[in-house]
Amino acid sequence: MTGAASNVHFPHRHLLGIEGLSPDEITVLLDRSESYVEQNRQSDKKKSLLRGRTIINLFIEASTRTRTSFELAGKRLGGDVINISIATSAIKKGETLIDTAMTLNAMHPDVLVVRHPHSGAVKLLSEKVNCAVINGGDGSHEHPTQALLDALTIRHRTGRLSGLVVAICGDITHSRVARSNIHLLTTMGARVRLIAPRTLVPSDAERLGVTVFHDMKAGLADCDIVMMLRLQTERMHRNYFPSIREYFRFFGLTYDKLSVAKPDALVMHPGPMNRGVEIDSEVADDIGRSAIREQVEMGVAVRMACLELLTRNLPEPPPEVH
Ligand code: NCD
Repeated sequence: MTGAASNVHFPHRHLLGIEGLSPDEITVLLDRSESYVEQNRQSDKKKSLLRGRTIINLFIEASTRTRTSFELAGKRLGGDVINISIATSAIKKGETLIDTAMTLNAMHPDVLVVRHPHSGAVKLLSEKVNCAVINGGDGSHEHPTQALLDALTIRHRTGRLSGLVVAICGDITHSRVARSNIHLLTTMGARVRLIAPRTLVPSDAERLGVTVFHDMKAGLADCDIVMMLRLQTERMHRNYFPSIREYFRFFGLTYDKLSVAKPDALVMHPGPMNRGVEIDSEVADDIGRSAIREQVEMGVAVRMACLELLTRNLPEPPPEVH
């Protein structure tokens, strides 16, 4: 597998977002990810591809899935992985993000995976360091590896992306997952619908090549994929909906609302889920319909592919002078 893939090339130093990637570049990442899905199901999951490489996870915002997934991905490829969270970073002591980045850069990491509450912060940091940078989610801007793992899950289940009708439902305004998915899915030829209350979808969303609905059943009619999103209350600075109860009544995914989608429509959620808010528990746990656990599995494979392809592009260190 490794040898056969040595001509696979992703022509970027960093992975900061999906916007601007070509269909071929996305396909390279997905195909490479696919090759790791099987490997991750074996008892011996370890490779030595990243032996000697250092990966630092710098997470200035809460995370369970993404951080663990990058840690596992790095370790399964034989790299050394270090985790820094907001609780353990000097940012808590008033250090700026750039100073933190410069400090880490001086330790010669090969890859920095960064999550930050501000849109654009990861790009800014990538301009100051020598290593490859992967965006693990910046504010409400982009979360590229989430969109890739969602695409891999869909491709795995349906065999394609092109031509599918995908409904992304919930808090679109504050969601980096929605933004990265819109870029990826439209680039790959899927038709994207956004379903949200008027207050939770940008008024100019249609310029992204999507169709906007404010009624769940109208938006879900005959769709192939239903992606549910959490209300990102940590990014809300005013009231966007009257009450949780009313939100669930109109925008929570129930069997009744799902009944208008294709009979085999797949239900997805990036997690963390708020049961009884954006999704009914029974739908979330329906293993026939829900791909939520599979999304987590695909996440590790996608992050392995990203780490592999980006480290391949790193310049060789200059020869040591004695
Ligand atoms: C998402 C995120 O952090 O943007 N979660 C994730 O990475 N799996 C979505 C969310 O927090 O709701």
